[in-house]
Amino acid sequence: MKNLLQASKDLHPQIIEWRRHFHKHAELSFCEFETSDFIEAQLNSFGNVEISRPTKTGVIGKIHGAKPGPTIAFRADIDALPMTEVNDLPYASVNKGAMHSCGHDGHAAILLGLAKMVSERVDALCGTVVCIFQHAEELPPGGAAEMVAAGVMEGIDEIYGLHLSSNYPIGKFGCVNGALTSATDSFDVRVIGKGGHSSLPEQCVDPIVMAAQIILGLQNIAARRISAYETAVLSVCQISGGDAYNIIPGEVMLRGSVRTFSKELRNRIPGMISEISNGIAASMGGSCEVTYTRGYDSVMNDAALTDGARAAISDYFGPDAVLEIQPVMPGEDFSAFTEVGCPGTFIEIGTRNPEKGTDRPHHNPAYLMDEDGLYYGLGFFAGIVEKKMM
Ligand code: NI
Repeated sequence: MKNLLQASKDLHPQIIEWRRHFHKHAELSFCEFETSDFIEAQLNSFGNVEISRPTKTGVIGKIHGAKPGPTIAFRADIDALPMTEVNDLPYASVNKGAMHSCGHDGHAAILLGLAKMVSERVDALCGTVVCIFQHAEELPPGGAAEMVAAGVMEGIDEIYGLHLSSNYPIGKFGCVNGALTSATDSFDVRVIGKGGHSSLPEQCVDPIVMAAQIILGLQNIAARRISAYETAVLSVCQISGGDAYNIIPGEVMLRGSVRTFSKELRNRIPGMISEISNGIAASMGGSCEVTYTRGYDSVMNDAALTDGARAAISDYFGPDAVLEIQPVMPGEDFSAFTEVGCPGTFIEIGTRNPEKGTDRPHHNPAYLMDEDGLYYGLGFFAGIVEKKMM
């Protein structure tokens, strides 16, 4: 019992080495060529791993146990962000303009660790472990949807994911049932009027005044048209139009974002944006075109699987390690894997440690990781395998 926890500890120096390799050779979304080749080469060196490349830069490693059992998938994202690292580390990114500032280098290393550990224990394994090294989490439409379209979820009974996070203290595992992340959508409103001389507005249809009214009107969606028991954030973040102080322009463009947790509410909002925008424009003699773009779906954690995760974490690290958290606003394309009907859960692995300076935010050029988090992350995946497949 608990032998995989010891194995996680023994593998820790190796995981750190892998993580630093990925960190040093950070690659952007859809361009993880060296990263995926490195992953494939490592998986190959373990033995007992059936490797496939369903997409250009995604890698799957399947490990079949000697005994029958479930097929359980574990997912790591592997891409970096378009920014330049300011940290003076011996393993700082050598690729200018690409930095692992979200921790996906750690996720990839953790999953390699799981593959190695499990590949050395196929005799004791019941069922199949599927390691999904997913490209392009950071850039919608995202790599997860591409992998799903390539059929990677066929035959999978359960899926687990994790994110190292400086939002939670080191040694804590953030768990939540139901919605973990928001759905992340965007919209464009092209406000169409009729341009002309600023001194003769009666000859024009002023799209600037229309746009101003539309912006205020859209605020009524969250404030007046949604129940206080539901959550949505709608922000107009870009506005452009006009060229001179004395010319009423013909058009104004508005762009914004919508975050929701419930599917039903998410489906209602595009209609409300159109109705308000078109209604206001028509009332002022103009018109508009609304484009609504759906981004990542909300990550929905299956209650039974999340309870299983809590139990596994508790067994390995004690009941105090389980931290009940609130849903978070940043999006995550792990949702694509569960949208096909496979239950899944996604756990936040704490890495915040002010003594080590690892309390800096993700997506920041000075982001640092407490590498002890790698041990906890691997321990979580290992705990699921030991509980359900050994
Ligand atoms: Ni991330």
